[in-house]
Amino acid sequence: MPNVGQRPGKRVFIETYGCQMNLADSELMGGVLSTRGYTAAPNHDEADVILINTCAVRERAEERVFGRLSHLLRYKNERPEVILGVTGCMAERLREVITERAPYVDLVIGPDAYRRLPELLEQCQEVDADPVIDVKLDRAETYTGLTPERRPGISGWVTVQRGCDKFCTFCIVPFVRGRERGVSPEEILTQCRDMAARGYKEVTLLGQTVNSYKHEDTDFADLLEEVVKVEGIERVRFTSPYPTDFTPKLIATMAKHDKICNYLHLPLQSGSDRTLEEMKRLYTSGEFFKLVDDIRAAIPDIAMSTDIIVGFPGETEEDYEETVAALERIRFDFAYLFKYSERDGTYASRKLPDTLDEKTKGRRLASLIERQEAISAEIFQNRIGTTVRVMVEGESRRDAADLCGRSDDFKMTVFPKPEGRELMPGDFVNVRITDATSHTLLGEIVEG
Ligand code: 5AD
Repeated sequence: MPNVGQRPGKRVFIETYGCQMNLADSELMGGVLSTRGYTAAPNHDEADVILINTCAVRERAEERVFGRLSHLLRYKNERPEVILGVTGCMAERLREVITERAPYVDLVIGPDAYRRLPELLEQCQEVDADPVIDVKLDRAETYTGLTPERRPGISGWVTVQRGCDKFCTFCIVPFVRGRERGVSPEEILTQCRDMAARGYKEVTLLGQTVNSYKHEDTDFADLLEEVVKVEGIERVRFTSPYPTDFTPKLIATMAKHDKICNYLHLPLQSGSDRTLEEMKRLYTSGEFFKLVDDIRAAIPDIAMSTDIIVGFPGETEEDYEETVAALERIRFDFAYLFKYSERDGTYASRKLPDTLDEKTKGRRLASLIERQEAISAEIFQNRIGTTVRVMVEGESRRDAADLCGRSDDFKMTVFPKPEGRELMPGDFVNVRITDATSHTLLGEIVEG
């Protein structure tokens, strides 16, 4: 962050939990603060302000943050003037619990209060002040006109939609992020152009149900048509789409543009129609299969991943087996598999008792992970002998003699540094795949 404005010397460290949107929100907070003269601290020790940007989607995420907060008390003890703030979805949901369990927290603010962050931090500095709390949700807030503070890089996020209107019965998001609203195309394109000018090669458009995007007459496919025109941006990704808002027009747009990557994260949640209905997912497994078939017909090499919840209230062994069967039919490249976590305030927590015992949930999850791992391993193995186009990210973490990057279809690919040629992050290379694990492709650079 540049050191301009009226508060020279204040340094902020932001720690982020949860989804990509939270990472993007942390960049937004960084941007808001940088215009007021804050700079980024390299670590907690050197920070005047420590912000923990939190997730509320499962209980475990929240427990982790409480654990983290007790650890961070150390910084308050050593330097009482340090401001400790909790931001984001868990702050929105648990404002009182946070101030009770961690009374030394100075600031608790929800996802729609980031514009006011500098003033709220000022308030925190008043002597003996109670924690400053701002959890107002705002139907109109899209953070237009605020530039996120993005570190120099090649790949970044642009939030195109905030909030969610779907109200899946298990999900806390609509309660903590408020109603769905689209960011204007002008704002999105300004950000993309700005990123391209700074050397970014890849953008990922973010929204809770990103393809439900609407702004005046612009739908998500229209938005993609504009984003692919941004010169310098070579790859466009987006996450996460909602199945029933996947229009034929969107499929056609994806098929038409090479820049739009051949990878889709399409949350299924369950393979059982009964469970899907209780989740209020608005589609049947058959409709989901048809959507996957249509997408694959239009974009033959597309890779897909998904989210699944096991142990949703009332899930029978048959329901569970239908989920297994769905994973085996679709064969996702990989999957995020979760145990159901009851969230206060959701429809499911009020009306659908969480009756399944932990042991059954654990067994179903473990066995599903095993099935999916086998599928992923087969899919990755099948890539041996093919050539993939990779955007170089940097040195492999395991071995400095190797580089790594993602293929167009989002597979982490590792390959030896070529001799006599220095590759930089953001360069594109063709890699012939010679080996694979269930999550990584290994290969060597080939010309062409
Ligand atoms: N319990 C378990 N998993 C959940 N998810 C959302 N809410 C819950 C919950 N209450 C999962 C869904 C979603 C992903 C981001 O998190 O699978 O797609």
